[in-house]
Amino acid sequence: MDSQPQPRRFAPQGPLRGRIRVPGDKSISHRSLMLGALAVGETRVTGLLEGEDVLATAAAMRAMGATIDRHDDGSWSIHGVGVGGLLQPTSALEMGNSGTSTRLLMGLVASHGITAAFTGDASLSGRPMGRVIEPLSQMGAAFTPSPGGTLPLMMRGSLPAVPIEYRLPVASAQVKSAILLAGLNTPGITTVIEPVPTRDHSERMLRGFGAQLEVDDSGPERVIRITGEADLNPQTIEVPGDPSSAAFFIVAATIVEGSDLVVENVGLNPTRAGLIAVLRDMGASIEELDRREVGGEPVADLRVRHAALTGIDVDPAIAPSMIDEFPVLFVAASLAQGTTRTSGLEELRVKESDRLTAMADALQRAGARVTETQYGLTIEGTGGAPLAGGGPVTTHLDHRIAMSMAVAGLASADGVEIDSAAPIATSFPGFAELLAEAGS
Ligand code: S3P
Repeated sequence: MDSQPQPRRFAPQGPLRGRIRVPGDKSISHRSLMLGALAVGETRVTGLLEGEDVLATAAAMRAMGATIDRHDDGSWSIHGVGVGGLLQPTSALEMGNSGTSTRLLMGLVASHGITAAFTGDASLSGRPMGRVIEPLSQMGAAFTPSPGGTLPLMMRGSLPAVPIEYRLPVASAQVKSAILLAGLNTPGITTVIEPVPTRDHSERMLRGFGAQLEVDDSGPERVIRITGEADLNPQTIEVPGDPSSAAFFIVAATIVEGSDLVVENVGLNPTRAGLIAVLRDMGASIEELDRREVGGEPVADLRVRHAALTGIDVDPAIAPSMIDEFPVLFVAASLAQGTTRTSGLEELRVKESDRLTAMADALQRAGARVTETQYGLTIEGTGGAPLAGGGPVTTHLDHRIAMSMAVAGLASADGVEIDSAAPIATSFPGFAELLAEAGS
């Protein structure tokens, strides 16, 4: 991320209209680079998100031996080293703002006989890594983290690693994926038990690359078993549009009067689609057009028209399927008629920022009526009347706070100023331009 803050004001503009496309899915982009780097032969990827987080993963995989090239047509090719073939990196792996890169790569390193140092920005260096250190230590990896179990961190993988059976103590796709990726080069069966299902892109893609992976969801918990040591076959991958990026436009079109916007090619994996269900419950008009499959994931074009929203109590059970979308849901709730209550959201406190406190502060500063509890936010909406606006609001190096408050600016009298738009480049290069274009 550009270390210079870039203050920026997002002001009301015209209704959002026409057809837009958002960049590729961040989770799927990371995984396609990682698995491509472990397959023998050439993996081709189209629609890869070229945000800073994903580029950090690409740089790390190159540092560990993969050849990764971007072609003029925007597609990418990856020549992998084979499972077990990762090389010792010669310098620290610089992870920037990216928790997904860090935790998944720690999983990969854990079952290779290499040592790696992980560094990151101030936001990432405050995030808990104990949740991956614990299971990966059980598999045999050794860690020297900073005090508090954070980055900068040094680790040594174990060859061979030991297969484990691990029940996730927090609902985290990153922890699940770290263990499954470690399991790829671990002889025997590595088992992850998920009491609450989280995004399943790793499972889908590991299977697509030919890993022996079984999912048993017949009982109350989801049991995932991967058999190592695996051989991965190179793939051709089309990355669908990121529903977490589409979310900003879905909410913007919903709250700005007169909007009628089609967001094309949005990934609708059920483990990611919670926001759409919640917004519909609040009265949003979101129509799915041309449902199809792209890269093994369900996809549709979404037609979103302005609609009046009503506050609801959001069921905490839906949280994992919209974990990154709460900041922008809080914006929608601020414009709804009545009260929206959320709970069960403690995980939001350990994202790129403490998203409960950051959004409560930012929305209050923009004129919304928000109460923060230990587990969520309670928001009294305006009933559709614009927020007063103002700022500057603090984004805490968090792209989703920045984009959510940009959307709030569209539904405000005076606009909302954010302290820096720089974090947006981690997941959504071109966001501000696309927003301006949709509203012109
Ligand atoms: C991600 C998992 C989620 C999500 C993050 C991406 C992934 O994190 O918030 O943006 O790609 O696996 P947690 O596993 O910490 O919930």
